[in-house]
Amino acid sequence: MKISIEKALPERVRAEVLVIGLFEDVKALAGEARTLDTALKGKVSAALRSGDFHGKIGDSLLLYTDGKIMAKRLLLLGLGKQAEFDLEGIRRAAGRAVKGVKRLDKKEFHALVPEIAKGVPLWHQARAWTIGALLANYKYTAFKGKEDNGKTECREARLVARDNDKVKEFQKGISQGEVVAEVVNQAREMINSPGNVMTPNKLAETARKLAEENGIKSEVLGPKEIAALRMGGLLAVSRGSDEPSRFIVLDYKPAGRIRKTIAVVGKGITFDSGGISIKPAQGMDQMKYDMAGGAAAIGTAVLAARLKLPFRVVSIIPATENLPSGKALKPGDIIRMYSGKNVEVLNTDAEGRLILADALAYARKFRPNAIIDLATLTGACVVALGSEAAGLLGNDPRLIADMKKAGEASGERVWELPLWKEYNELIKSDVADIKNAGGKEAGTIQGAAFLKQFVEKVPWAHLDIAGVAWLEKEKDYLCKGATGAGIRLLSQLFIDWAGD
Ligand code: BES
Ligand code: MN
Ligand code: ZN
Repeated sequence: MKISIEKALPERVRAEVLVIGLFEDVKALAGEARTLDTALKGKVSAALRSGDFHGKIGDSLLLYTDGKIMAKRLLLLGLGKQAEFDLEGIRRAAGRAVKGVKRLDKKEFHALVPEIAKGVPLWHQARAWTIGALLANYKYTAFKGKEDNGKTECREARLVARDNDKVKEFQKGISQGEVVAEVVNQAREMINSPGNVMTPNKLAETARKLAEENGIKSEVLGPKEIAALRMGGLLAVSRGSDEPSRFIVLDYKPAGRIRKTIAVVGKGITFDSGGISIKPAQGMDQMKYDMAGGAAAIGTAVLAARLKLPFRVVSIIPATENLPSGKALKPGDIIRMYSGKNVEVLNTDAEGRLILADALAYARKFRPNAIIDLATLTGACVVALGSEAAGLLGNDPRLIADMKKAGEASGERVWELPLWKEYNELIKSDVADIKNAGGKEAGTIQGAAFLKQFVEKVPWAHLDIAGVAWLEKEKDYLCKGATGAGIRLLSQLFIDWAGD
């Protein structure tokens, strides 16, 4: 969908649908709403008085304009309480605008960007609107017949702006928002792809292609090289699968001085059956999204390149399937990791931490200022936080604080769980250095406590995205399925660090 700006008065735009948001607690119409109401001979205020439309979040009402203004239809959207309205409110309103227009089976619309009362730069607001609209317009159609394909997609949104200052701010916000949303949607496409299509090799080829298009260096290791490096975790998990494993490294370097190096590690399990510790049949199909962290790591490198950020971003994605077979890893096996630590594998379904451990240890070679990993690591995180926040754990309070802030600003919220050293007890092994699973207690923390052993002293943060990477119910600007979780958060973090 193209997003453009139309410099015009709202009553003068020639639109199929003109979308305008109204607050529930602002009863006296003002500004553009008032102008439109006057031109429409009080139709908007009549709708409010009638009680058919309250301005609550989720309220919407379609009005026909009978030629009184140049737009054919006016779509009113509720924005909730003005004091509570924030960037997430804008994203949600943009998403509902797109969905409302799709429901009318229209391909294009005009919109007035609802404004936050004060304190937020206008271009941030335009960026949020753009991201909300473009994410809402995405649908996974790769395997749908021709008739279905693109049928309900919007092709163009025009943002109405009165003056030149606003046009400029809007342009800046739209440009950056378009890049972010495009990268997030690319990741969603990878994640939604079924396991028979998005194999470890396909993930690597997709990463390689994106790297090439964006001037990023890429390196992909295969089974022989992985064995030569003695990456025992990745080797062990991949043993049960006939698909060759891949170890993907994307290395973006800015043209100028490198201000920091950040390693982004993403879990790339293209299908997680659990292995010999096999999962129940119910819902196993969903485990194609177990490479969502990998897709986010790829997307983050692409975004850094496209936004020309002043950081070196090294994205590292260990990729394999986790399947049972006569050759597969077994409960009780002890494996030697890339770092040299020995791990007792008590549950082959705790495979993510095994492959990530090797990738985290490998990441240290780049001497990063920070390592951030993203992984659909634990079912426990889904239980604890649902789909409203990713789990956040780490060893560096400043990094954690920055990530919380970027989470709020980007609309990808995080919630910190403790990682006190006492939790290490849970993963102590009788026979090896550590074990990969330690029973029912504190599942998400156990996963992080395990990973922590492989980053040592480097500032590190772990995002457990198991609950947020996939939606079973749609939200205002995200449909069911893959969300591309983590990319918006990390891009916001990097933009903040770049000092914008
Ligand atoms: N990929 C799963 C975690 C997961 C579960 C992601 C549900 C998304 C939705 C992970 O590999 C896994 O199976 N974890 C186990 C760990 C346990 C065996 C220690 C889990 O959470 O049950
Ligand atoms: Mn698993
Ligand atoms: Zn998994």
